[in-house]
Amino acid sequence: MLDEQLRHTIQQMPKAELHIHIEGSLEPELIFALAQRNGVTLAYPSVEMLREAYAFSDLQSFLDIYYAGASVLLTEQDFYDMTASYLARAAADNVRHAEIFFDPQTHTARGVPFATVIDGIWRACQDAPISAALIMCFLRHLSEEEALVTLEESLPHRDKFIGVGLDSSEVGHPPEKFARVFERARQLGLRLVAHAGEEGPPAYIESALDVLKVERIDHGVRCLESPALVERLVRERMALTVCPLSNIKLRVFDVMGSHNLRTLLDKGLAATVNSDDPAYFGGYMNDNFIAAFEALPLDASHARQLARNSFEAAFVDPEKKRAFLAEVDAFFANTD
Ligand code: ADE
Ligand code: ZN
Repeated sequence: MLDEQLRHTIQQMPKAELHIHIEGSLEPELIFALAQRNGVTLAYPSVEMLREAYAFSDLQSFLDIYYAGASVLLTEQDFYDMTASYLARAAADNVRHAEIFFDPQTHTARGVPFATVIDGIWRACQDAPISAALIMCFLRHLSEEEALVTLEESLPHRDKFIGVGLDSSEVGHPPEKFARVFERARQLGLRLVAHAGEEGPPAYIESALDVLKVERIDHGVRCLESPALVERLVRERMALTVCPLSNIKLRVFDVMGSHNLRTLLDKGLAATVNSDDPAYFGGYMNDNFIAAFEALPLDASHARQLARNSFEAAFVDPEKKRAFLAEVDAFFANTD
């Protein structure tokens, strides 16, 4: 069991969340409430039966249910309510800053206007109890042309998001498929991230860096299969947004005791802890920290390193970053 003091430290320490899909924060209760509000019929008769369906064998088996859950989102208020609910949960976990992914194509494909999606999410961020920014993700199972159309559609809202990312089914959809759209995003001054090395091989992490020129790798846990890549990631201080509970639920690792988070830190990699899709994977930020710290040989020095890594990797201006890091250092100075 986790020592009470370490549990308290993990819960109370200031932290940033850098890998959260807002559609993955949609709790079954809210899915049902929104379905009722919008007159949408769900394939599951009750909250309990929907929750029971959350037994995944891999990424794709999760994505099928995740996209079905998102089908209840129709109005700007729906997107606002979902985001406000996540931000309140994050604040309760002492998340000070969140960089939130959203998947516009999941909604525009159903006829929901781009503006409805981003305005609801963005307005909740404006009203948030914590610092929050948005990253627009392209669905990699769709074509690059569709991603380019989405990027053009986003331009009237350019001031509402800070970057672009790449998510959905990884294997068979390598980063280089999106070379042109990431190049265009880079010209627009957007920050760049991509999911790579979750289920896909280390070569996908390399092409995310070399072709897409990303500044963080989402997941990246398979990097350990390539010592040369690990050396590069350490040298470039490239952050990995690791999601422990997600990796267990999607069977990237069999059990938390075999997760490689401690090894990543031991090798000097800039790993961070994040929740990915908290409503589907069994927990928010502190649940992820606690599950990892319970199963792995991690102590307060690792907690401090993970908190520092999260702010080091955040897309915030240098002054704000210094202030967050000073807050982490002051917190740990008081726990000694
Ligand atoms: N979309 C939501 N969660 C995801 C994940 N873990 N990997 C890829 N795409 C996602
Ligand atoms: Zn993800």
